[in-house]
Amino acid sequence: MADTKVYRASTTAPVNIAVVKYWGKRDAKLNLPTNSSLSVTLSQSDLRTLTTASCSSTYTGDDSLLLNGEPSDVSGARTQACFRELRARRAALEAANAELPKLSTFPLKIVSENNFPTAAGLASSAAGFAALVQAIANLYELPDSPSELSLIARQGSGSACRSLFGGYVAWRMGEKEDGSDSKADLVAPASHWPSMRALILVVSASKKGVSSTSGMQQTVATSGLFQQRISTIVPANMALMEDAIKNRNFPQFAEVTMRDSNSFHATCADTYPPIFYMNDVSKAAIRAVEAINAQAGKTVAAYTFDAGPNCVVYYQEEDAATVLGAFAPLLATAEGWKDGSVVNASVKLDEGIAG
Ligand code: DP6
Repeated sequence: MADTKVYRASTTAPVNIAVVKYWGKRDAKLNLPTNSSLSVTLSQSDLRTLTTASCSSTYTGDDSLLLNGEPSDVSGARTQACFRELRARRAALEAANAELPKLSTFPLKIVSENNFPTAAGLASSAAGFAALVQAIANLYELPDSPSELSLIARQGSGSACRSLFGGYVAWRMGEKEDGSDSKADLVAPASHWPSMRALILVVSASKKGVSSTSGMQQTVATSGLFQQRISTIVPANMALMEDAIKNRNFPQFAEVTMRDSNSFHATCADTYPPIFYMNDVSKAAIRAVEAINAQAGKTVAAYTFDAGPNCVVYYQEEDAATVLGAFAPLLATAEGWKDGSVVNASVKLDEGIAG
């Protein structure tokens, strides 16, 4: 009898915010980076992508994706690479076991929703591709580990490979030309440092000017500073950051986070023509964090910025009153924050998909 069943699986994936930034590709097709990076996974109760993947022999036409209720193009090379890799893994299982339904031959329907604005510059592509890959892996009942699946998510969007895990996650750049060693691994679960919190200051919810993909390509091609960043600055920051996490050393974690964000934005300014992601409000947030730390007499807060003006501030729960209190009047009064808001004043970390 023909198999007319609809097979379905769902998952959620978290957002991650890098504290040592990925910026630069050595292979654009395989999405291989010029440096390793490290991120912290944010709580899914506040920021997450929910994705359902289904397939059936009764589906007609091509694979499709509905993103926040709108049809979205899946013909791009990155989405195609993810579909191809996942199908190949499923096909291998089917070849080894004739009793398995031939899901790899059916069209896929993906439905994906973010619980935060997609265009807000809050790393939506990371959660999006991580959820897409995990949902299809669940649908296909693939035995692959999160690290193995990160190899596939990486081809969707580099930073997505880090969203397969919760907690503190490294993306090792790897050395192989085929990219088979360029994947994510868990540095420490969220439970290792449970007091860690993130505050997200939405400076602007509009879509960013220069996309990460194109910005980093321009930086690689034109910035002299960039060479120093990948050869010495990032390797040193990776070692210091892993050490800070291991020892739950917040001042060290904070200093490396802020220095690495500054170094990344310096290479953007050194790109020709220059790329500016931070605006005056972002810079005011930097000064506010400096003032908080100066007043506390120790480092209790750390800022970091991705390819956009929004600020993420890391702090520890015991300093919540100091950090949140210092931002409250700024958010209420400063002209620049008008268009801004705070996403869930304190974003706790959790264990992510794999936890
Ligand atoms: C500044 O992962 O969005 O957020 O691989 O081209 O999709 P593509 O780039 P993407 O770049 C993220 C850049 C960053 C730093 C980081 O997350 O490490």
